[in-house]
Amino acid sequence: MTRAVRIAPSILSADFAHLGDQVRTAEAAGADVIHVDVMDGRFVPPITIGPLVVESIRKVTSLPLDVHLMIVEPERQIDAFAAAGADTITVHVETCPHLHRTVQQIKKVGARAGVTLNPGTSIEALRGVLPEVDQVLVMSVNPGWGGQQFIPASLERLKTVRGILDALGSEAALEVDGGIHEKTAPAAVAAGADLLVAGSAIFNDRESVGEAVARLRASVQA
Ligand code: DX5
Ligand code: ZN
Repeated sequence: MTRAVRIAPSILSADFAHLGDQVRTAEAAGADVIHVDVMDGRFVPPITIGPLVVESIRKVTSLPLDVHLMIVEPERQIDAFAAAGADTITVHVETCPHLHRTVQQIKKVGARAGVTLNPGTSIEALRGVLPEVDQVLVMSVNPGWGGQQFIPASLERLKTVRGILDALGSEAALEVDGGIHEKTAPAAVAAGADLLVAGSAIFNDRESVGEAVARLRASVQA
């Protein structure tokens, strides 16, 4: 089956002093989704952004906002991110003892529900909620920073999740995040990913955002 592959630039690698322009530039370059990395200094060491910034980005783009919550107790923040304009809200299974309930909470506030897990966490931790979710994110680096190397074992993990989703007849997006660039993206897509997050491969000093999006897209077009 051929599925459309979408590209989601991660603003973690953008210039935060010009965030609105960077998001507009990504949209003009043909990005499909804007990926927003929320970090709290607890689940992962860095602190990044909160709902106020999501609200500001919401005003400058019509692209879906894909909010990746790398925070403890995400259930305390879901309503605020949805109100700020998040289209998809993804939570880490490691932070959710009541994952099924948290997924229902996301849906209740009108957002698409995403679940994710660290490279060291068993896929089994997600299996029970897969029939309920709109998106599954397979982390291909340990979360916290941009610019890390793709972990090759992520390919098997993508294949496993793709197999489960297909067996369920699920339409959920299968997203991959971490170390994605023109060299790693083709294998991730072959393993079943259809939503590619890319931070440092899109926002960097080597080329324009337009060139970077085009290069990544070309790498996954047969
Ligand atoms: C890492 C974040 C990623 C990050 C990816 O914790 O979840 O979204 O921005 O950055 P790159 O594409 O540079 O690996
Ligand atoms: Zn992310």
